[in-house]
Amino acid sequence: MTPTRLHAVASSPRAVLQPEVGEVLVGADELQRRVSELGEEISRDYAGRSLLLVGVLKGAMFFLSDLMRFIEIPVEVDFMAVASYGSATDSSGVVRILKDLDVAIEGRDVLIVEDIVDSGLTLQYLMRNLGSRNPRSLAVCALLTKPERRKVDLPTRYVGFEIPDRFVVGYGLDYEERHRNLPFVAVLDR
Ligand code: IMP
Ligand code: MG
Repeated sequence: MTPTRLHAVASSPRAVLQPEVGEVLVGADELQRRVSELGEEISRDYAGRSLLLVGVLKGAMFFLSDLMRFIEIPVEVDFMAVASYGSATDSSGVVRILKDLDVAIEGRDVLIVEDIVDSGLTLQYLMRNLGSRNPRSLAVCALLTKPERRKVDLPTRYVGFEIPDRFVVGYGLDYEERHRNLPFVAVLDR
């Protein structure tokens, strides 16, 4: 069997195959570097405790699985899936739970892991919902945030990158379920 040539993974040829994929905003190396920093910071902040990560499906799947590998304290993981009514690119804040947590979170240190905070409405709903279950602590770790789009003020303790008001895809993020598999974050060209 021929070994995989890692150096052959380039970012630009995909744009030719998929014209919707525009400029790369956060490259794969930059993602790994920042995610490792976040993992170290979280490990320091929660030292001596154990943490429950709540991944928000599906967008946070790559971020969560990479982040977990950089966390050095005992960590468990659970998932929620939510749907926010609205268009493909704008959420309305009316959120429906498609999949709830498997475990109770009362008395636990809980960290919500999100792909992106846009208006903040989805996260506001999740914070209220999970907050009402009496966790010991509840905080948010988001890979990306678009400060210009924020409609509600939210305490986001950990943020990977602040990005401009552009719709982005890749590293878990989708446009109509496509482009999640890109190993970098790119602007959607419409
Ligand atoms: P919010 O409720 O407006 O903060 O929207 C949050 C959700 O909308 C995220 O969890 C994403 O699923 C989706 N979203 C917002 N902006 C983008 C984007 O630029 N690309 C892909 N998905 C996005
Ligand atoms: Mg989405």
